[in-house]
Amino acid sequence: MFNWVDDPDIADAIKKLRREMKDTNSIPAIENSPAGRKLESLARTGAFNNLAERVRVALRPEATASVCRAYIEHGMQQLPQPVKLYYYGPMFRRERPQKGRYRQFYQIGAEVLEANRPDSMKDVTRELLKDAAIDAELIEMLMTFFDKLELTGIELDINSIGHNAPNCRPAYVEKLRGALTQVKDRLGPDSQRRIDTNPLRVLDSKLESEQAVIATLPKIADHLCDECKAHYAAVKSQLELRGIIYKENWRLVRGLDYYMRTTFEITAPGLGSQNAVCGGGRYDSLVELLGGPATKGIGFAIGEDRLILSLQEQSRQAESANAASGASPHQSPVTSHQSLSVYIAWMGQNTYATAVRAAKDLRQAGFSVEVPPTELKFGKALGQADKLGAKFALILGEDEVTEGLWTLKTLDDGAQIKLPEPALIEHLRNSLNPHPL
Ligand code: HAM
Repeated sequence: MFNWVDDPDIADAIKKLRREMKDTNSIPAIENSPAGRKLESLARTGAFNNLAERVRVALRPEATASVCRAYIEHGMQQLPQPVKLYYYGPMFRRERPQKGRYRQFYQIGAEVLEANRPDSMKDVTRELLKDAAIDAELIEMLMTFFDKLELTGIELDINSIGHNAPNCRPAYVEKLRGALTQVKDRLGPDSQRRIDTNPLRVLDSKLESEQAVIATLPKIADHLCDECKAHYAAVKSQLELRGIIYKENWRLVRGLDYYMRTTFEITAPGLGSQNAVCGGGRYDSLVELLGGPATKGIGFAIGEDRLILSLQEQSRQAESANAASGASPHQSPVTSHQSLSVYIAWMGQNTYATAVRAAKDLRQAGFSVEVPPTELKFGKALGQADKLGAKFALILGEDEVTEGLWTLKTLDDGAQIKLPEPALIEHLRNSLNPHPL
C-alpha cells in the first residue's frame, strides 16, 4: 500500500514522492543504535568517537537497520501486519568517489516487516509461498515506479542466497572457500583476502582478470536447502504471474550481511560501472538480531543520485533524437493519488491471479491497493481492510471470477454492489473523486 508516484514528469514525480513521505525523525542521520556495532557491513562504513561526549556514533550508511530499530522501539509488532514503511534521506559511506558513487548520497527506500505469528511454522509451505508473494509484489511496485518515471532500459536481476542453516548457505560458503583456495593464485589481493573474511563477496568482483575464474566456481542455486529452493521457485513464478521480466544472476550476493533468500538489483543505462539504481532483499532475522521479536522483512533502496543521472542521460538522448526528427516534446498525463482505496479480499486459489491483475490495473489507474499474499477467511480479510482504513473491499470469490461480476463493498456503510470488471475503475473514480495533482 505504499503510495507512489503517478506522475511521469521526472522532477515533479520526485518532488511529489518526497512530499508524501512520512516524517523521518525516527531514523536520524547519526545512529547510536546497536545496528552499527552488530553488523559487519555497517561497522565497515566508518564509526567514529565523539571525544567531547564520549559517545560512539556513526553516519548512517543505509536505513534498513534503522527502520528495524524504529519498528522495535515503537512496538510496531502491535500494528496490523505486515507493516509497510518508507523513507528518504542522505546516507554516508566511506567509498572511493567516482561517477554515481559518492560519500554522501540520497536514498528512497521501503521495508515490509511482519512479526512471526506463533503458529507460523505449522504450515511451512504456506508461509514460504506467502513470503514469495510479498517479495514479488514489492518488486512489482518498483518496476511500476520506474515504468511511471519512463526510465527505459532497466534490468532486474534476482538471486537467492539461501539462509543461515547448516545445510544451506554456510555449507555453500565452505564449498566456495575450498574452490577459491584452489584458484587463489589467479585472484587479486582483495579477493584473496575475502577467501578468509567473506568468500561470497568475491562473486561481486568486477575485476576483468578474475571473471573467467569466477565463472567456474560452484553456484549457490545448486546448494540451497529444500525450503530456500521452494521459496526461490515461488518467487520466480510470482514474478511471472505479474508479467515481470527478470534475469537470474547467481553472483548477486549484495554487500550487506543481513540478507537471506531473495536478493535483487535493478540496473539502469547511462551510469557506467556504478549502474545499480536500486538494490534490496529479504532479511528475516535482522529485527531479532537488533533485540526485537522474531520478524520477517524485505525491502529496497533506490539511489536517487543515480536515478536522476540516468533520467538526465535518457532525456539528453531523447532531446537529440527529437531535434534530429523535429518531433514535439512529451506531455505528461494528469493522474491521481489516494491513501488506501481498495482492499482485495480474494477467496479460492483460482482467484489469486485475478486479484493480482486487478491490483495492478487499479494501481495503474492511480488507486492504492492492498492484496493479501495468502488466502484469508472472509471475516478476517474484511477485518484487515477495516484496520487499514480501506474505503472499499473488492470481493473476489470463484463465482465473481466465473461470472465476470465483481462485488464492491463500501466499508463505511456496508453497502455492496456488483459490477462488471470494466466498470470498476470508472465507478471508483466517481466515488473517490481523486484529486488531480
Ligand atoms: P544498497 O545496494 O547498498 O542497498 O544501496 C541501494 C542503492 O543506493 C544502490 O543501488 C545505489 O543506487 C545507491 N547507492 C549505494 N551506495 C551509493 C553511493 N556511494 N553513491 C551513490 N549511490 C549509492 C541498501 O542500502 C539496502 N539498505 C537496501 C535495502 C533495503 N535492502 C533491504 N531493504
